Amino acid sequence: MKKILFITGGAGFIGSHVVRLFVTKYPDYQIVNLDKLTYAGNLANLKDVEHLPNYKFEKVDIVDGKAVQALFEKYQPFGVIHLAAESHVDRSIANPMEFIMTNIVGTVNLLNAARHTWKDNFDGKRFYHVSTDEVYGSLANDGSLFTEETPYDPRSPYSASKASSDHLVRAYFHTYHLPIVLSNCSNNYGPNHFPEKLLPLAINNIKNMKPIPIYGKGENVRDWLYVVDHARAIDMIFHNGKIGDTYNIGGLNEWTNIDLIHKLCEIMDRKLNREPGTSAKLITFVQDRAGHDLRYAIDSSKLVNELGWKPSLQFEEGMEKTVDWYLENEEWLNNVTSGDYQKYYETMYSGR
Ligand code: NAD
Ligand code: TYD
Repeated sequence: MKKILFITGGAGFIGSHVVRLFVTKYPDYQIVNLDKLTYAGNLANLKDVEHLPNYKFEKVDIVDGKAVQALFEKYQPFGVIHLAAESHVDRSIANPMEFIMTNIVGTVNLLNAARHTWKDNFDGKRFYHVSTDEVYGSLANDGSLFTEETPYDPRSPYSASKASSDHLVRAYFHTYHLPIVLSNCSNNYGPNHFPEKLLPLAINNIKNMKPIPIYGKGENVRDWLYVVDHARAIDMIFHNGKIGDTYNIGGLNEWTNIDLIHKLCEIMDRKLNREPGTSAKLITFVQDRAGHDLRYAIDSSKLVNELGWKPSLQFEEGMEKTVDWYLENEEWLNNVTSGDYQKYYETMYSGR
């Protein structure tokens, strides 16, 4: 009998890469993808693996505690990798409640269901909560890095909701001995990234010769990691991470937004056979994000030293692969940018 593993948010950006890795690498696991399919969840992200016998999809809203409990009873999973979340900072500023419900209440529903289903028999069980470096707050431009000991200082409704869920996951470990493990990762990029986030939005706009909105002066710094390397880290932490521990994941790959977009413009000009400098002309400075964190940068030495993880791709290679994927997957891009998303986008960004 196959061991059943729940992956929540498996139809989203990172979740789909985690599902792909696990269904192909672990034929002895039955992977059940629990996802509500919000605007950000798209089963087309899993087209290449959905036929595999060890993959199954369950449409569920994790805010619905009863439905979550029923799925735990039905499947009796040995593990959970929890990625389902509202993930976009700008949306959290426009509508925080959605973030409180999914990211906090949804996480507690999963914790409760795991606890009640496993009934204190935690042998071989594991609850893995996937989180973000944004919980640590914002760094100055002084070379400092977030470590696992950095005090929490979330500053957007998104990061506050993720910080809250991280605290609750740790509280279930300390209070009920639920076997949890947690990771906090820097900004991901790669295929299947929803085109409201900086890089895929810029790729899509450059392709269509539309303005590339850069918040403020573009001086904010992010540490970019190729999504498949995040999925590899999740695999290592799920299987070999110490119960109760937290692991930071990052690319040691800091870019100011403006330098990053210039780099992307160069790649896009070359791939689209455009005159060098054509795409950069689309850069448009717009009103800054409220409470915009200046800099995120991660020290992942614990993960590297204890579990032997290292990124498999150089940034240049990752960017080339990412741009190629978007240029080859026009249909995916058109599908996810139509309908509800388009309506939201027009409301949020009109006048920008
Ligand atoms: P995403 O927005 O692309 O996908 C989120 C998925 O969760 C979607 O498939 C969506 O349908 C599902 N979902 C949302 N609300 C749900 C609900 N109530 N019930 C069930 N499913 C629901 O997000 P992502 O970028 O893939 O991020 C995944 C996880 O990784 C999140 O927890 C996020 O905080 C974390 N993270 C993301 C990044 C990043 O750079 N994107 C970095 C570090 C950590
Ligand atoms: P984003 O991709 O939303 O990720 P996060 O806010 O979680 O880091 O944004 C990355 C950076 O790019 C962040 O500093 C905000 C900035 N940004 C823009 O300048 N323009 C945009 O249109 C978007 C979406 C983001």
